[in-house]
Amino acid sequence: MPHKIGTVIASFNEPNVNQFRFVVLDNVNNKSNIPIRRGQYIELDESDGKFIAIIQDVYKTNRYFTRAESVKEYDTKTGIQSIFPTELWEYTIGIAKPLGYYDHDNSNLDRISFPPSPGNNVYLADKETLNKLIGLDTDKGLNMGKLCFHDEIDVKINLTRFIQKHLAILAMSGAGKSYTTSVLIEELLNRKIEDGRISIIVVDVHGEYVSLGKKPNNNNKKIKDLSNQVKIIKSPFMTINTTYLSGYHFANFQSNISSAQIRELNRIINNYRRSHPNCPYSLNDLISEINDDPKMNIKSKEALLGWLDPLEHMHIFSDEENPKLLDHIEIGKALILDLSETISIKHKQILISYFAERLFNLRKEKKICPFLLILEEAHQFCPEGKAISKQIIETYAREGRKFGASLCLISQRPVRLSTTALSQCGTHIIMRITNPSDLDHIKKSSEQISSETLGLISNLPVGEALIVGNAVNFPVLVKIREKYSNTGDSFLNLEEAARLWEKTHS
Ligand SMILES: Nc1ncnc2c1ncn2[C@@H]1O[C@H](COP(=O)(O)OP(=O)(O)OP(=O)(O)O)[C@@H](O)[C@H]1O
Ligand SMILES: [Mg+2]
Repeated sequence: MPHKIGTVIASFNEPNVNQFRFVVLDNVNNKSNIPIRRGQYIELDESDGKFIAIIQDVYKTNRYFTRAESVKEYDTKTGIQSIFPTELWEYTIGIAKPLGYYDHDNSNLDRISFPPSPGNNVYLADKETLNKLIGLDTDKGLNMGKLCFHDEIDVKINLTRFIQKHLAILAMSGAGKSYTTSVLIEELLNRKIEDGRISIIVVDVHGEYVSLGKKPNNNNKKIKDLSNQVKIIKSPFMTINTTYLSGYHFANFQSNISSAQIRELNRIINNYRRSHPNCPYSLNDLISEINDDPKMNIKSKEALLGWLDPLEHMHIFSDEENPKLLDHIEIGKALILDLSETISIKHKQILISYFAERLFNLRKEKKICPFLLILEEAHQFCPEGKAISKQIIETYAREGRKFGASLCLISQRPVRLSTTALSQCGTHIIMRITNPSDLDHIKKSSEQISSETLGLISNLPVGEALIVGNAVNFPVLVKIREKYSNTGDSFLNLEEAARLWEKTHS
């Protein structure tokens, strides 16, 4: 039985198809003094079907307090409340925006072409209606948390709708991006075979997800052990298989290398491949081949080696890759690429451009299962300006959905993120953001975000998120659920860190 909360009222030009007001019943909500809230969904029974709307604003009125001169007059004497029953004349009015209606066969949501009638009952939208309205997958969706103001609704999002056309998680520092990502990882790792599982690769810039791979402390019963589903590799142990690289990859790694030098390098690579068929090689092998090459003059050799030597000194260009993707990418499991021990941004970008491209190609050749590549600090790898890893990430954004290679971009500076990549993300999870240029950038990248929604984003508390785009039929506010994995919170606050330092150094 739906819960009645009020009655539609008539006021100037309203109800109309864009807006209507309703007066709220007293004591509609026993749990709280606040009867209705902005953002709640409501429904009305109209002759053609069920009318659905969202509460956009709430205000109170009281006719005893509308005239300033009489309020002042009474206040100077005994006070207006002692003479009149003012509290009986206080009303709460809700302003609602119609979203659509279901006709009697209750199939699809139709566009509103008529206003609701004054005098009609207003109900809180019921569970079934809300699940259908938002387009939730109540059987096998990923449970991200509760719908704000509707605690009975678990926001369970269909896997395909959520990530096939990529996902962006955007918020200022400390708003809960990594926490939300942990919840997403837990949901993905917990899927049953029949629901469809994928593999997860996390580019972990700060080592926040490393504890996922560790057995939790037995004392904490709330934390679930996911360690047997998670592998971790630290960046000092990561290597690139040089055999998969062409001269153009090196041109990307060293942008000032000339096209003549690239041609020479390609010739060297081809020679090496011909003289050592099916034999993997490292950058060091190519450098020896250049040194021994009889055709190249001394000047060209020196110039080319001048570009390749700094790359060789990174100690990542081997004759085999680590981690071996063909062995480590497994369905229903996660691989964490922990970059926390590497400071050089160039070094990180080279590693990620290599692994992202290898994953993409292996998936295209159907040698590995569908996967989600999660990029923390995505603006470091796919910025609006230049970056070694930018091209491959934009390729994911444009083509990945066709191959089951999905992307999750996480960033605290959306304005610095590639517009191409961001605009290809079908779903956005947006948490608190206050920077005006970031807000503006987000608005430009998603047509579903209105100016009102934008105002909401800057006031969101930690742990609340707005989900917009393919994943849901309407933008929804979600209170992200509590995580149960052993992730994050490995950073001490400044006071704790200072105390620990004194303790260990005294
Ligand atoms: N849904 C939530 N429930 C409970 N606590 C949360 C939630 N979301 C975030 N927090 C807490 O807020 C703090 C910051 O969260 P988190 O590290 O995820 O932020 P962030 O957006 O990733 O920040 P940064 O950009 O600095 O990486 C953490 O201590 C975390 O425990
Ligand atoms: Mg974070």
